[in-house]
Amino acid sequence: MAHTSDRSRDMEELIALLKRRGFIYQGSEIYGGLAGTWDYGPLGVTLKKRVEGIWWKMFVDDREDMYGMDAAIIMNPRAWEASGHVGGFSDPLVECTKCKRRFRADHLADKTKCPECGGALGSERQFNMMFKTQIGAMEDAGSVAYLRPETAGGMFVNFKNVVDSFHPKIPFGLGQIGKAFRNEIAPRDFIFRVRELEQMEIEYFVHPSRWEESFEAWRKAMWEFMRAIGLDEARVHELEVGDQDRAHYSQRTIDFEFDYPFGRKELYGLAYRTDFDLSAHSKGSGVELSYFDEATKERYVPHVIEPSFGVGRTLLALLTQAYTKDQLGGEERIYLRLSSAIAPIRVAVFPLLKNKPELVAKAREVYMALRTHFGNVAFDDNGNIGKRYRRQDEIGTPWCVTIDFDTLGENPKEKDTVTVRHRDTGAQERVAIVDLVRYVGETPRA
Ligand code: GAP
Repeated sequence: MAHTSDRSRDMEELIALLKRRGFIYQGSEIYGGLAGTWDYGPLGVTLKKRVEGIWWKMFVDDREDMYGMDAAIIMNPRAWEASGHVGGFSDPLVECTKCKRRFRADHLADKTKCPECGGALGSERQFNMMFKTQIGAMEDAGSVAYLRPETAGGMFVNFKNVVDSFHPKIPFGLGQIGKAFRNEIAPRDFIFRVRELEQMEIEYFVHPSRWEESFEAWRKAMWEFMRAIGLDEARVHELEVGDQDRAHYSQRTIDFEFDYPFGRKELYGLAYRTDFDLSAHSKGSGVELSYFDEATKERYVPHVIEPSFGVGRTLLALLTQAYTKDQLGGEERIYLRLSSAIAPIRVAVFPLLKNKPELVAKAREVYMALRTHFGNVAFDDNGNIGKRYRRQDEIGTPWCVTIDFDTLGENPKEKDTVTVRHRDTGAQERVAIVDLVRYVGETPRA
């Protein structure tokens, strides 16, 4: 494994590449940025949507027991009082008495001395991480609202709506992808800890006696998802979270941690939230949130298993494991070893020469056919072939297709075939145009 300094240099280089190639930009960069916010550029948003698409297909579309949701970000503030977030969604904060900088107390090795200026640190207090806002024109206590700190809340408050509309049998679940906001004391490590984040969450409702088997099933399903997007399983580790460290609503939590360049850190969480949320919202709203089982004539408050996936942390894990340096053809190169399942560009098409209209026309034809099928296909006729390969390597494109004179029939044996070049090895082979869709669609993950 590389030394820490190599890893942090690689991380800096990766961040620079992601900016240069249009994946991720600093939020509001031209104004000097805004801490804890990042903007996804054209390739970043494509990568994000591909990951989210796999999640949605696997956990909503392909399952009969799951229902999709898209709830409002701003909710009635009483919902966050009932859920315990107004009272308890906080991190320990300490402030330096000299330079006034603020730190998360649990991130400090020495809780007495400021890590920046050496001044004395004040006493620890709890800092609520919810972003507050004002609803309507009045600015009084009655107009306070919060940006949701987790997407989960929007699903709990719609439990009854979905039961009334669809009459699902328990067990069933709700799935949602959306933004959440946390006023983190110390956003850090690029997109790892941010203030505006995106989550993919499931609230799965079960009979209280069956929570353990459901917890195990979701644990396996989370591993399946990680495999589907091409995460390196050897870098993911399960951690049983101790009593002291669990969220206030959880009776059991497993964190899935990933070996990021800056250390082993939380990627996902799987929590057993008991009947905490439905009971709390029943009490808070005065609306009964229970379930009646027609078969057994039993009425009960379902318990909840919650697999929670951070989108940004998924992308950071994929990008840091994909960032690769090697030697190819005697030259050093950098490439992103992304799975073809998620690579922003699946395949790029080139005419060998830009100034030969017959090559360009044929290349456009092949490009349009592939684009119609896959969507995320690029056309490039700038610079020489070597430069085009390097550009595609840097953004993780698994295959490049070149149309040359043999394609046009100069060598009759090769007519209507193209050169397909593989990103990871640089190996090239001749493939018939009629086979390209199948080839690029079926060749195992690059
Ligand atoms: N609904 C449960 C929940 O929100 P959490 O452990 O606080 O639990 C779930 O967050 C996931 O959301 C985390 O595992 C992580 O992937 C992501 N996440 C949480 N806080 C984050 C932050 N400040 N920046 C980026 N991702 C974050």
